[in-house]
Amino acid sequence: MKAARTIGELRRLLQPFRTGSTIGLVPTMGAFHGGHIALFRAARATCDPVVASLFVNPTQFGDPADLAAYPRDEPRDVRIAEESGVDYLFAPSIDDMFPRGHATWIDVEGAALGLEGDFRPGHFRGVATVCLKLFTIVRPQVAFFGQKDVQQVAVIRQMVRDLNLELDIRVVPTVRDQDGLALSSRNVRLSAAERERALAIPRALGAGRAAYRLGRDAVAAARAALAGVEPDYVAIADFDGRPTLAIAARVGGTRLIDNIPLDER
Ligand code: PAJ
Repeated sequence: MKAARTIGELRRLLQPFRTGSTIGLVPTMGAFHGGHIALFRAARATCDPVVASLFVNPTQFGDPADLAAYPRDEPRDVRIAEESGVDYLFAPSIDDMFPRGHATWIDVEGAALGLEGDFRPGHFRGVATVCLKLFTIVRPQVAFFGQKDVQQVAVIRQMVRDLNLELDIRVVPTVRDQDGLALSSRNVRLSAAERERALAIPRALGAGRAAYRLGRDAVAAARAALAGVEPDYVAIADFDGRPTLAIAARVGGTRLIDNIPLDER
């Protein structure tokens, strides 16, 4: 695996692959876990070369404290990426990605409205802008995203459609810990007691789906199963034609999101 620290360096490294190759891109913010590894492996199975980006994108964080507390462990990430079949790890600086004077933003409406869009103003603007920049720098044929952030997938798909990007978006199912909690870089911030409380989220999703399949109110069933965890929202939304139950909730100081498709596919 090769690491590239600047846009120029990555572009030079990818030059030999501009024709005849299928470049796969996995955008990430690092602090790798099994969810990221599943994306790397999905890319490895269908693309060559596999590029992963590692950039804690300041423009998608509303709260400076959340950005400052975001977990970082680059030496560990380098090891995991290498073991998971990544060919090029692109880890640019903030100055390289957003130099002084940067003044162009991608404002997706449609898919970015509601749910996370309501609770994290400006979040998807930062996500869409950095992803479009990554797509322009790497010029992948395929980009991989996780179902865990289902609205993010919808925002990226909206942008790809609206801006006529020549890019295939593939979605990898949510990877969970044995206890059901969706893997997330933010989980390391949970105390043991908070983690126990957080398990109410996957339980609520399961209860919601069971209710839905019996023709009952999935949102009410999920809310009832949240066991005192106070959600930002519990909602059913249509993502890519699939009815999906989505929950966001704060457990202690950590905000968690999770979702489950309700159809049988
Ligand atoms: P990050 O949170 O690092 O996630 C990188 C990718 O891993 C995203 O596509 C996310 O959906 C996926 N992922 C996270 N947890 C997962 C899980 N448990 N199972 C499956 N996939 C999972 O999402 C971002 O970074 C950023 O917003 C980014 C797209 C990189 C733009 O900055």
